[in-house]
Amino acid sequence: MRKCSLVFLVLLLQLSAIVRAQKADADVEALIRQMSIEEKVGQMTQLNLDVVCEGGIYKLVEPHHLDPTKLREALLKYHVGSILNCGGHAYPLKQWHELIGGIQEVATKETRLKIPVIYGIDAIHGANYVSKSTLFPQQLAQAATFNPDLAFQAAEVTAYETRAAGMTWNFSPVLDVARNPLWSRVFETFGEDALVCSRFGEAAIRGYQGASTPIDNTHLAACMKHFLAYGGNRTGKDRTPTYLSEIQLRELYLPPFKAAIETGALTVMINSGEINGVPVHADKNILTRLLREELKFEGVAVTDWEDVIKLHLNHKVAPNLKEATFMAVDAGIDMCMVPNDYDFTKLLIELVKEGRISESRLDVSVRRILTLKKKLGILKNVSIPNEQQYPKFGSSAHRAIARKTAEEAITLLENRNQTLPLKANQKIFVTGPAANSLSLLNGAWTRTWQGVDTIWDDQSNNTILEAMLAVSPNVTYAPGCGIDTLLNLTNALNLANQSDVIVACMGEKPSTEKPGDIDDLSLPRAQLDYVKALLKTGKPVVLVLVENRPRLVNEIADQCAAVVMAYQPGDTGGDVLADILIGKVNPSGKLPLTYPRYNHSLMWYDHKYTETFDTQFGNKAFNPQWEFGHGLSYSEIRYTDLKLSAPTLIKGDSLTVTLSLSNPSDREAKESVLLFTRDHYASITPSVKKLRNFSKITLKPGETKTVRFSLKAEDLSFVDANGMFVTEPGDFDIQIGPLTTTFKYVLK
Ligand code: BGC
Repeated sequence: MRKCSLVFLVLLLQLSAIVRAQKADADVEALIRQMSIEEKVGQMTQLNLDVVCEGGIYKLVEPHHLDPTKLREALLKYHVGSILNCGGHAYPLKQWHELIGGIQEVATKETRLKIPVIYGIDAIHGANYVSKSTLFPQQLAQAATFNPDLAFQAAEVTAYETRAAGMTWNFSPVLDVARNPLWSRVFETFGEDALVCSRFGEAAIRGYQGASTPIDNTHLAACMKHFLAYGGNRTGKDRTPTYLSEIQLRELYLPPFKAAIETGALTVMINSGEINGVPVHADKNILTRLLREELKFEGVAVTDWEDVIKLHLNHKVAPNLKEATFMAVDAGIDMCMVPNDYDFTKLLIELVKEGRISESRLDVSVRRILTLKKKLGILKNVSIPNEQQYPKFGSSAHRAIARKTAEEAITLLENRNQTLPLKANQKIFVTGPAANSLSLLNGAWTRTWQGVDTIWDDQSNNTILEAMLAVSPNVTYAPGCGIDTLLNLTNALNLANQSDVIVACMGEKPSTEKPGDIDDLSLPRAQLDYVKALLKTGKPVVLVLVENRPRLVNEIADQCAAVVMAYQPGDTGGDVLADILIGKVNPSGKLPLTYPRYNHSLMWYDHKYTETFDTQFGNKAFNPQWEFGHGLSYSEIRYTDLKLSAPTLIKGDSLTVTLSLSNPSDREAKESVLLFTRDHYASITPSVKKLRNFSKITLKPGETKTVRFSLKAEDLSFVDANGMFVTEPGDFDIQIGPLTTTFKYVLK
């Protein structure tokens, strides 16, 4: 009798699971049942817009228009389910409506199953491929705010302005942890710390996707990228191999993705590189066992650009394209960003017909892709917006959020003799290659991929020079040097000699991916030499750095009166920087990475004890130019009274950590409070310190506030030899600002 009722119960549970699944996916399942192999493979194919436009790939006819024959070939013959990118540059809203409207018209009226296309774009610091959209500081700068709420707001605006163009999928945020400062994509990351990347990633995903189901027409699907460990490459050159242990993989690179999945990220893009000799696009351990079975990710996994082809051509693990296609699908990808031909499509059909890939394997991916379209609310009803529908597009309200982000990002690194803020009536000489450039302020992925073509600059924004001219009557200017070349020094040095203070805006040409590879982290020689010449005038030099990654400045930084890290602060960055220099805005940014001093001493803030234990040789191994978390304020915030609720943390309990912060100055200040811990002894060599929590507060003039953190055993954990996060009993230090204290962790 008992056995009978057990069987009945199991059957009942199974039935209700099926009913639930059917209820949830009825539309999707109905479509899958009707689809041919070709239609399924088509859904798994993502093409570049160029393929369906007039002209050749990368050689489109201007202005870009759809080519009706090519479009029908893509949608009717090959049943393509997704298109991406922008034919090389930004378009106004109206042109996006024409392009995407034209694509959806054919997809939803002429194809057999009327499934709309999902359109993907890299809107990575605002809707950068939509003309006149709001441009935000790049991710690295956003992280410097240590205020994830700003990343949330930036993502909400970006989603709104991208949706305004009719696009529903954003290849953002980048969740790679930037562990090699040479890498061309450091500016695209939230820096070198896994916790910072996790918190900012979660905020961005919430901002992009919103809270409603299906997603409303002001939000879109986020894409966490690039899974996994893309930021850990050994050489610092883009798409080069990463070598790492299971411990590093789990402790450093995985947490931001895990957090993003728990936040509900709908899609993921795969790392173009290889880990320990296995290209990630062909790695079943990473793409299926880790991503699906362990992390339980149910969304869509898209390849990166041409990465199936690269398994054959670059990585050399597949002797031909067909094997490459097999490997990637077998490893677990759902959609291939092919993106310029139909080889993947044709070869995958062949593989299914030959029985090497089962049709049910296609169903798994197609189900995820159609579910994504359903969650976006476009499966049955895709509408192309008109220009009036998004009145806040490019509005001053949106710009105010970008500006606030830049205000909290820009980081004051040195301020000797209170050189800053500049005094009224000082004669200011503004100079350097970053002084009069909007492109440098914005960086790559700005209206074009590399972001260097100035014809796309929105001249209604101020460069640093224009912003300085607007706030001070005593500004002179000469460029002095370009990125790599010295210009007319006589004129520049004359103006420098006549000034009271020099604002030297040095920087890096915007770049990303392979074009951004460098051989030397130093700031280009011409700029270093120029700053040295400026220093020789004896005038105080304020060095402003506008750069993709931390370019070395050890030859000049110690002699400069002040140093300001601007990162790539976006279109509002010129105005914000001027306001910081004159003291209208009190800086509060802090470095989200270690700023190295030497080319051959590229260490992280959370390095191991042995990396610094060489004092007997007279060599201070960890001697960065500026440490992770460093950043000054005009207010010299005081940290006092660090206290713990108990001297011992017992497993299962929590400790309350409190401290006082006071603002002795007569101006309002913001302060990022960073809580680090240090494990005295552990079974895996502990880091000298680890960031465990952070929060940002505002202090009125003269105000004192108590800041509180709660600390649990999990917050102290590390990955042990078994690949598990553990916290071992023992002594720990807490460090917050200049304060430290110690406590014990016990099991009971
Ligand atoms: C980049 C991705 C990007 C994709 C689509 C690739 O080259 O690595 O980050 O999303 O192109 O533009």
